[in-house]
Amino acid sequence: MIELPDHDALVDFARGHPVARWNHSARRFDRAWGLGEAASFTDHGRFGHLLLAFGAPDDAARLAAEILAGPPAGDLGGFDIVVVPRDSPVSSIDQLKWRHDWEWFWTTTMPERRPGEAAVERLDVADPHVAGELTELLDVSSPTTSALPGDPTVDHWYGIRAAERGLVACAAESERASGSSNLRAIAVHPALRGRGLGADVTTAVMRAGFEAGLHAVTLGMYSDNETAARPMYQRLGFQLGQEFATYAVSA
Ligand SMILES: CC(C)(COP(=O)(O)OP(=O)(O)OC[C@H]1O[C@@H](n2cnc3c(N)ncnc32)[C@H](O)[C@@H]1OP(=O)(O)O)[C@@H](O)C(=O)NCCC(=O)NCCS
Repeated sequence: MIELPDHDALVDFARGHPVARWNHSARRFDRAWGLGEAASFTDHGRFGHLLLAFGAPDDAARLAAEILAGPPAGDLGGFDIVVVPRDSPVSSIDQLKWRHDWEWFWTTTMPERRPGEAAVERLDVADPHVAGELTELLDVSSPTTSALPGDPTVDHWYGIRAAERGLVACAAESERASGSSNLRAIAVHPALRGRGLGADVTTAVMRAGFEAGLHAVTLGMYSDNETAARPMYQRLGFQLGQEFATYAVSA
């Protein structure tokens, strides 16, 4: 295992792997390591102190095991969450308790324009009425959402309003300052699905990011999400970057 001193070294070691390029922020660089065909980095995020390994599952498991058992974990005061590629053999690391599987998608391509994008507006969540509308929409449309109004890591909220129904679709954009944005809380009211509103709001947020100079747009999706989300993201040009499994670290 070798320690990687900065974001560029991580991208080089990982031979330009999209997770290194677009899911790791040079601005927030903390620590990073490489081993064989895998690399990993740490982050302090919404879920606490995180170690994320990506690349080849076998090497990623070895890398995570070495970091957790060795000086890095001690120096850093341990981890709360470990993320490894889905098929990584981590059963020998007994501190890890499986939480969920998820998929990370990315794109560097501006999507085709959709007429419905014109109806997408930036939402002012500082207005308590708007924040209330968003909370209500997410409650009925996406109870496991990864972002709610008031989340300080969200840069901008977007939505679509329908006559007499109010807010019917939404999406959140975060991580803008890192050169790529991460889309979260994409949801459409259950009564209005299948009419293109999800694609409209997602496309509008992608376009806003690319027009602001971002290089990539990314998102994570729970793998057991049996909704229309996966085909929608593929239709909009997103590519699967890595299938992950998230584990909690027991003390
Ligand atoms: C995912 C979600 C936002 C999609 O919104 P939507 O407005 O129904 O989707 P759209 O009508 O814009 O569909 C866009 C594309 O998705 C695909 N799609 C839509 N419904 C689909 C279905 N039932 N089955 C398969 N594909 C479907 C199609 O490819 C469609 O493209 P097309 O119009 O060219 O056929 C919505 O289902 C939702 O809110 N789900 C719950 C919350 C959620 O899972 N969010 C994603 C978290 S990662």
